[in-house]
Amino acid sequence: MGRKGIPVPETTQGELTMTANRQVLIASLPSGNMQASDFEVQTAELAPPADGQVLCKTIAITIGAGQRAGLQGSASYAGAPIAGRLMSGTGLATVEESQSPQLRPGDLVVGQTGWQEYSVHDASELRQVDGPADPGLHLGALGTNGLTAYFGLLEVGRPNAGDTVVVSAAAGSVGHMVGQMARLHGCHVVGVAGSEAKCRMLVEELGFHAAVNYKDSDFRSAFRAATPDRIDIYFDNTGGDVLGSALFRMNTRGRIVCCGVVSQYDTANPEPGPRGVPGLLVNNRVRMEGFLVFDYEEQYESARRELSSWVESGSLKPRVTEFEGLESAPDAFVALLSGQTVGTTIVRL
Ligand SMILES: NC(=O)c1ccc[n+]([C@@H]2O[C@H](COP(=O)([O-])OP(=O)(O)OC[C@H]3O[C@@H](n4cnc5c(N)ncnc54)[C@H](OP(=O)(O)O)[C@@H]3O)[C@@H](O)[C@H]2O)c1
Repeated sequence: MGRKGIPVPETTQGELTMTANRQVLIASLPSGNMQASDFEVQTAELAPPADGQVLCKTIAITIGAGQRAGLQGSASYAGAPIAGRLMSGTGLATVEESQSPQLRPGDLVVGQTGWQEYSVHDASELRQVDGPADPGLHLGALGTNGLTAYFGLLEVGRPNAGDTVVVSAAAGSVGHMVGQMARLHGCHVVGVAGSEAKCRMLVEELGFHAAVNYKDSDFRSAFRAATPDRIDIYFDNTGGDVLGSALFRMNTRGRIVCCGVVSQYDTANPEPGPRGVPGLLVNNRVRMEGFLVFDYEEQYESARRELSSWVESGSLKPRVTEFEGLESAPDAFVALLSGQTVGTTIVRL
């Protein structure tokens, strides 16, 4: 029997009690724009946990733009993408059954559950979390994307009060937190996003000083008007045209934080980088630096303490777009890439 008396679907195979487990597999690697039909749902049998392991039931998974880079084969940390495999991903889960003294049934954990209802893990691979089972908090502000915003801005961007900070994909999971954190550090914050509604939300609800729609025909002049003192930190989630525009507005000794290249993920033919590299970097003594959040793993706990205090005080307002049911995960992924989600994208199972 699972938590709260809900039965775990089980069958037996020899001595083993197996769990029927719905999963989303990568049916085919996307060749152009990714489609929901690149995924398929199947039911498989999951063997029980061995010594030192736990069986987890997924509450929710989070979907991030970087997972599309993983399917493209352009994310070094994700390895080569392979069709027919379980779609990987981070989830919030409850421990259903434990063969480890480290975790008990009912404990709440975060880990690499993948897109599936149940998963078995070594207890040491999971992070136990406290408090209510809030996926937006544990997978968003305190999850990988919250940490990415934190370390990218503070360690790579190194903001000073009064700096102008521009962030692209500003209404997305990483972006909306970068802007709010820059504001907390006394910066002038400008977001770049793909709709008027997103731009309004950034300014009216999240405290950005200005926001510009990169899909507007007069984007370049609006961007210039929004950055009258030019740019000290450009936090780049997109690459592409927005990076191209930002390069020409950087101040002397400015910093470009290369976080990701979402404008070039959902295609088989990524474009070359923009004009101005390296000439503009040389002339303006601009530091352009890429980073991976995993480099800062040893500092995650102290970062989470600071992020939690900002969320509790209301100075960091995490936004979430939620989808319902495992089957909706492929649609949620497509929606995220086409700009239809705001904040962290969560699928509740
Ligand atoms: N370096 C690291 O360790 C690390 C870790 C996590 C994530 N990341 C990176 O962080 C970035 C954001 O990821 P996320 O998970 O937070 O995704 P997200 O921002 O929630 O979603 C992606 C957003 O990108 C925008 N977009 C899509 N196509 C675009 C285009 N052609 N030009 C400009 N914007 C476009 C869309 O919003 P619009 O409506 O604005 O178009 C969409 O909402 C990604 O580049 C990801 O790879 C890096």
